[in-house]
Amino acid sequence: MDLIAELEEALSEAAPRIEGAGSVEELDKVETALLGKNSAVGKVRRAMGGIEAAERPHVGARLNVVTTEIEALIAQCRSALALLDEQHRLTDDRIDVTLEAIGFPQGSLHLIQQTIDEVVDIFNGLGYLVASGPEAELSWYNFDALNTPPTHPSRLESDTMYLDYGDPDDEVLLRTQTSPVQVRWMEQHQPPVYVVVPGKVYRTDTIDASHLPVFHQIEGLAVDDSLTFPDLKGTLAHFAREFFGPKTTVRLRPHFFPFTEPSAELDVSCFVCDGGEPWCRVCGGAGHLEMLGCGMVDPNVFEAVGYDPARVTGFAFGMGVERLAMVRHGINNIRHFVDNDLRFLRQFS
Ligand code: DAH
Repeated sequence: MDLIAELEEALSEAAPRIEGAGSVEELDKVETALLGKNSAVGKVRRAMGGIEAAERPHVGARLNVVTTEIEALIAQCRSALALLDEQHRLTDDRIDVTLEAIGFPQGSLHLIQQTIDEVVDIFNGLGYLVASGPEAELSWYNFDALNTPPTHPSRLESDTMYLDYGDPDDEVLLRTQTSPVQVRWMEQHQPPVYVVVPGKVYRTDTIDASHLPVFHQIEGLAVDDSLTFPDLKGTLAHFAREFFGPKTTVRLRPHFFPFTEPSAELDVSCFVCDGGEPWCRVCGGAGHLEMLGCGMVDPNVFEAVGYDPARVTGFAFGMGVERLAMVRHGINNIRHFVDNDLRFLRQFS
């Protein structure tokens, strides 16, 4: 077959083969078959040296035209395939950004911890540090050093859970109050002292709407060279306004605690009815809510920790965290705190 005829045949076969390539890889193979060394075009290219000089320009010109045309067809097909490929990737890899994201369940702090954090924050703002102590405590710290006589009824098993009776000096019990941490802190630190102590306390109480055998308290202790009863009242009035709202007022009622003299209970004005509305479901018409115990630190406590009662004075207070939260949020049953019912817990997340 003459070379020109071979070139024409190669050209006429080229278009359908190129169009038949379904991918860039296939097209690469077709390109080699059409233009490579062993292709018809390649053979003509190699034969050029051996053909007669008169014929060479004619065959050469045709060779160039056929090669260029095949190359052009291939280039055209290559860009069409690239476009197609891109379109496939766009449809295959498409993500629907309107789909709802997978949500990860998020927990939150228990209302008791939130309440503790809030109270601690208020006292931090006044310069108080946070202290803690053991829940399994010696009688000495829970009672004796706090000026509680051996015959005090709160020492009985009807109030206190004992872990180990031992000698009177090393009886171990579950602390019934956070007050023993006052003693532990003062043993380790010199005045001035400004600490708050959040923690768990234990009592032999039967569970009902307002009692749990395990609950939480926050203790406060301030000792300095000239603290007076007005400092106590001012500090607690500030706390009450921060916690219950700026209109809150406080009143002190005389009370007794072994570790303070004088001692008092602090009431806050009802933050719902603002004072004595008979319909009020929070104060029941009383106008005030009992909030915490407090007083000026008894000199006997200072002596027990090695402070000189002639040189320092101080005040202390203790409050129940569950009660704070119940009053604030209108929670009518203390059992909600330990039921772990998400319908309750989620209201405070
Ligand atoms: N510890 C007392 C209680 O559990 C509360 C308390 C009252 C603590 C007066 C004090 C205080 O520090 O001064 O009922």
